[in-house]
Amino acid sequence: MALMSWTQDLESGIKVIDDQHQRIIQFINELDDACRTGNTDETGHVMEGLLNYTITHFEFEESLQEKAAYPYLKAHQRIHELFMKKVAALRERAGKGEDVAPELLNLLKGWLVSHIKGEDRDYVESVRALLDNADQETSGWLNTTMKRFFG
Ligand SMILES: [Fe+2]
Repeated sequence: MALMSWTQDLESGIKVIDDQHQRIIQFINELDDACRTGNTDETGHVMEGLLNYTITHFEFEESLQEKAAYPYLKAHQRIHELFMKKVAALRERAGKGEDVAPELLNLLKGWLVSHIKGEDRDYVESVRALLDNADQETSGWLNTTMKRFFG
């Protein structure tokens, strides 16, 4: 059984964002699976992938908010920053050989859902106004930005 599943109430209606949030949930499930097998190398590997992807997603989200002139970008950045501080502390402990995956899973599971349903909702209007009828400049910007972050 997957630890988390994608449900409609998590949807923002912004395709690029929903795709990324879905990928994070998939990563969380992969980490949960790896934990259960007890394979510490695999767990460490999936955890790194998950954390790197999450950081990239935050950066992408912030770029999108900036492009959309979302007025609360700074506050949103601050929320991402505080979360990443917690993650950095876990990463440090993992570096010392501690098994932090269960704690990370708990943290992510709770935080992600409340963030997606909470603060992420607040930028939807601004970002949709930018993307729903994107002109050529905006489409070009989105393509370039997607490539820059996700290769
Ligand atoms: Fe966010």
